[in-house]
Amino acid sequence: MLLVTGGAGFIGSNFVLDWLAATGEAVVNLDKLTYAGNPGNLASLADDPRHIFVHGDIGDAARVTALLREYRPRAIVNLAAESHVDRSIHGPAAFIETNIVGTFTLLDTVRAWWSALPAGEQQAFRFLHVSTDEVYGSLAPEAAGFAETTPYAPNSPYSASKAASDHLVRAYHHTYGLPTLTTNCSNNYGPLQFPEKLIPLMIVNTLAGKPLPVYGDGLNVRDWLYVGDHCEAIRTVLAGGVPGATYNIGGNAEMTNIDVVRAVCAAVGQCRPGPDYAAQITYVKDRPGHDRRYAIDSTKIRDELGWSPRETFATGIERTVRWYVDHPQWLADVTSGEYRQWVARHYAT
Ligand code: NAD
Ligand code: DAU
Repeated sequence: MLLVTGGAGFIGSNFVLDWLAATGEAVVNLDKLTYAGNPGNLASLADDPRHIFVHGDIGDAARVTALLREYRPRAIVNLAAESHVDRSIHGPAAFIETNIVGTFTLLDTVRAWWSALPAGEQQAFRFLHVSTDEVYGSLAPEAAGFAETTPYAPNSPYSASKAASDHLVRAYHHTYGLPTLTTNCSNNYGPLQFPEKLIPLMIVNTLAGKPLPVYGDGLNVRDWLYVGDHCEAIRTVLAGGVPGATYNIGGNAEMTNIDVVRAVCAAVGQCRPGPDYAAQITYVKDRPGHDRRYAIDSTKIRDELGWSPRETFATGIERTVRWYVDHPQWLADVTSGEYRQWVARHYAT
């Protein structure tokens, strides 16, 4: 079986659902259930014996050791993290704790357990660490996309903490021979994403008739990847990736933020014909240290492992908006309590 960490979050829950549908192999899902973790994302698995949910922290060595001994996973997919750049600017400590110290503890605990396995199991084992393109910093307008050889230049507390975790993963392979894989992915969007990130926030606010807050001049560029494509890429790397290697994953869909927001307004208009939703767009103060452009060169994963994204931005955004429109209860549940406090604090002028 597989041990997935952070499997109640956005990508993690999509990954668990995708994994079970695609492979049928059982999953132990270790998640701390921070504000971003939502067991409701996995409600459809409530009676499925192939999904074992464990409420816990990757930084809890005793807990992780017990899970490894009990379930003897053949691989770990590490998705547990603090993931929101704006929150890392307001409060970086949690990012250091989970993304750096937590990943270190997980790695070291796994190494101790793995090193006592029989040789065949040791060789077959994989530790797949899910990371981000933000570790590479910001690109000039005409520069080539990030390749696996691009030097690291993280600019936010979030990306610095992810970069540190990537370096630890690299070191555990180089020094101890742990069979690691690292994936560096661009911006994901799709069902089950907590509406603090750009696309779900814009969908939620469009539907609620609220302002659509675009940072700065709205011309920052991101490379958007539909989450289902990311899940397939992780499965592909787990199956065929070379231990110690890193793989960049992108959507071939570079867009400015303002174009993304206009596309969201248009897609909502298709589902819910009504007012000119784009009239809700409001420019607000910029994010401190805001990276201007990210873009991924996915040549390596395409040529070596045969993966490329299936969705275009046009098809992915349509599916995504449709999902949010069709799941008002999910939205109502996640946009209460802590979420409201965050929005009030962060978007206060
Ligand atoms: P998310 O914030 O939606 O979910 C993170 C999950 O990790 C939550 O369920 C949370 O409860 C859990 N978690 C947090 N701290 C934990 C801890 N100490 N122990 C166990 N569980 C813990 O994040 P996401 O968007 O799903 O991102 C998942 C991973 O993918 C992260 O590593 C992130 O850096 C990376 N990533 C995200 C994107 C993106 O666009 N969302 C793109 C590239 C890479
Ligand atoms: O590139 C991969 C990264 O993508 C992941 O590693 C992160 O976990 C994920 O959160 C995401 O980071 P970004 O900072 O790019 O995503 P976010 O959705 O927060 O913002 C996307 C862009 O939209 C960014 O340029 C900031 C802008 N933005 C965001 C919000 C929340 C706005 O203009 N207004 C907003 O209200």
